[in-house]
Amino acid sequence: MTTWFTAADADLEDFRSVCEQKTELSDYPHAIDVADHVLIYPGRLPEGLEIQSELVRALMDGPGVVVFRGAFDAAVVDRATAVFEDLIAVQKAAGVTGGDHFAKPGANDRVWGALDKFALRDPAAFAAYYDNDTLALICRAWLGAAYQMTSQVNVVNPGGVAQVAHRDYHLGFMSRAQAQRYPAHVHALSPVLTLQGAVAHVDMPVETGPTLYLPYSQRYRAGYIAYHQPEFTAYFDRHRVQLPLAKGDAAFFNPALFHGAGANRSAGVRRMANLLQVSSAFGRAMETVDRAAMLRVLYPVLRHYRGSVDNVIAASAEGYAFPTNLDTHQPVGGLAPKTQADLVREAVAGGWDQARFERALQQTCK
Ligand SMILES: [Fe+2]
Repeated sequence: MTTWFTAADADLEDFRSVCEQKTELSDYPHAIDVADHVLIYPGRLPEGLEIQSELVRALMDGPGVVVFRGAFDAAVVDRATAVFEDLIAVQKAAGVTGGDHFAKPGANDRVWGALDKFALRDPAAFAAYYDNDTLALICRAWLGAAYQMTSQVNVVNPGGVAQVAHRDYHLGFMSRAQAQRYPAHVHALSPVLTLQGAVAHVDMPVETGPTLYLPYSQRYRAGYIAYHQPEFTAYFDRHRVQLPLAKGDAAFFNPALFHGAGANRSAGVRRMANLLQVSSAFGRAMETVDRAAMLRVLYPVLRHYRGSVDNVIAASAEGYAFPTNLDTHQPVGGLAPKTQADLVREAVAGGWDQARFERALQQTCK
């Protein structure tokens, strides 16, 4: 059994045998199509463990990427797009160029920390957007009952270049030398700590550069070592697939899948996606989020909300009780203190006014 990976564990022939698989539609009863080995699902699915198990299989042992067609209503997406464009304009006016880890500052328009920025700017539009059963379904399937939503808006302008193939956070955001300092079982842990998603905010034909994926590459155990090596990058370039998306489609993938944004060769399409990085309650998210600030502005919306309050709470409130300060927040009548999510549910159900809710929110640890 390999307990520590070395550079010699990254073997292209092994990688090829792991990746060269065919996706059979009949193995995934809820899927409606297979395109370039990627599973395509409808935008709305039934709830329940059966579909959750199917999605886990698809992300863990299957192609590692699924697309939900029309998961977000176009009008809801457009409303969010208007908020994101405002945020970009404000950033530009303030002289901030949203650089990222791959592109030169200014080549793309990035809004980091877009989850709380969206909620603070337009809480009703935020609730309409994140009250999404499909989003909640796949987050619960991959991460379990509680998870930490974060979002980054990415606009790749015409002329934007492709990213180099990579894996994502946690171990994917390390150099090979750094990743090698973690034992092999932690390499197996990293993918289950995060779910990667992208919601298309515009139609994305192939010339606009939607994400490039290498299906099944998440299954390669030494992948966090291998993706740094040029022969693996070259293999990715020869075999990667690229799926056009329509506005409102959402793609979700295992963060260990080899992938990278494509080049935007269109004449004038600013390719906008809302990148969702959803963390396990047990992991550390990449970004900090001021969840208390979000909840203060969302609470008036949720008090009279007609949709699923639970979906909005899941995307905004802290759903896990730890870490906490056990001097001041001792568990009462159970093993864990109350979570922020518990508090919001209790307040909405009890019809608390804003002042009472804010007092109670301040008294919770986070
Ligand atoms: Fe990535």
